[in-house]
Amino acid sequence: MSASSTSPLIRNAWYAAATSAEVGRTLLGRHLLGTPVVLYRTEAGEPVALLDACAHRQFPLSRSALVGDDIRCGYHGFTFASSGECIHIPSSPRIPRDAHVRRFPLVERHDMLWIWPGEPALADPSRIPDCPWLDGSAKVSYYAHLRAHYQLLIENLLDFSHVPYVHHDQQGHPELARVIPRAREHGDTVVSTRIMRESSTPPLWSDVMGLPLGAPMDHDQRFEFRAPSAVCIRQAVWASKVPERRYPFSTTHFMTPDGCGATHYWSWVSLEWEGVDPATLERMDRGAREVADQDVVALEAQQALHDRLRDGAVAHGVVSVPFDAGSLLTRQVLARMAERERETAPEPRSAAS
Ligand code: FES
Ligand SMILES: [Fe+2]
Repeated sequence: MSASSTSPLIRNAWYAAATSAEVGRTLLGRHLLGTPVVLYRTEAGEPVALLDACAHRQFPLSRSALVGDDIRCGYHGFTFASSGECIHIPSSPRIPRDAHVRRFPLVERHDMLWIWPGEPALADPSRIPDCPWLDGSAKVSYYAHLRAHYQLLIENLLDFSHVPYVHHDQQGHPELARVIPRAREHGDTVVSTRIMRESSTPPLWSDVMGLPLGAPMDHDQRFEFRAPSAVCIRQAVWASKVPERRYPFSTTHFMTPDGCGATHYWSWVSLEWEGVDPATLERMDRGAREVADQDVVALEAQQALHDRLRDGAVAHGVVSVPFDAGSLLTRQVLARMAERERETAPEPRSAAS
């Protein structure tokens, strides 16, 4: 079963559009959910997301000029306010009533900008995935434009039995592929938890937490898929039999389909114990990048093969094992959300109206 044929895009949801640091006084164009969007900040620092297409002849506004808080189109000079309204046309004293571009709801939270590409009236900011641990300072970030469907990324993050194989040089320890997590649904969230006892400390955790390489280590994990755009993994490790010295950390992953078959992928690793020094953070940054790059390589290879098999003449199938329970639940949640969206979609306007 190909992920690209089973997981439709869900528009009525909050998605990460960019990190806070990426968006400033330079126009940033980005494809999100099949929609070209231009992002920038007003002089007062308010983030803005507009459709990246001029209302005149659809020139990209991201290739235009930011003048104060307004965008002056780089083709014929129509000027749009941050509301999306056209406020000036050099070649016409009259501004047509429909001369505006769509402005998207956009909220800044946890060093990310969150966009709502669907029905604006439904955009409730309380539905943005809440990740308060991201407000801490001991964290590192990663971004990739992943040439794979977002469902493949979600399943990768819910099934850590891949870690001893894809990331064996960094953080793979044998219990990751042996202890089956317990997965369940809570509304549009899938939660999966497990504790692994007396596994051997892998190189990355040895360097970052200072535990002896290969020494017995316990590892606690709680995965949360907050459909459709976030996977939060709260974790802790400690030397076996020394639970009073825990090293809690979180890996937080945001996935936003670009609508053209690829996925914008951001991830953060937050180290949540006291006294994390710069050298430790630098080692974490290097390790997190290597690990995320390994996932990107694996997922792009998987997607390329899915595409070839889908287009080929040989019948094929896939099997699932108990470890896949969380991944299968994420498919159900996404399918339910897509169905809800279809049921509540406004009737298309008839051509005669
Ligand atoms: S396309 Fe933008 S002003 Fe003509
Ligand atoms: Fe991975």
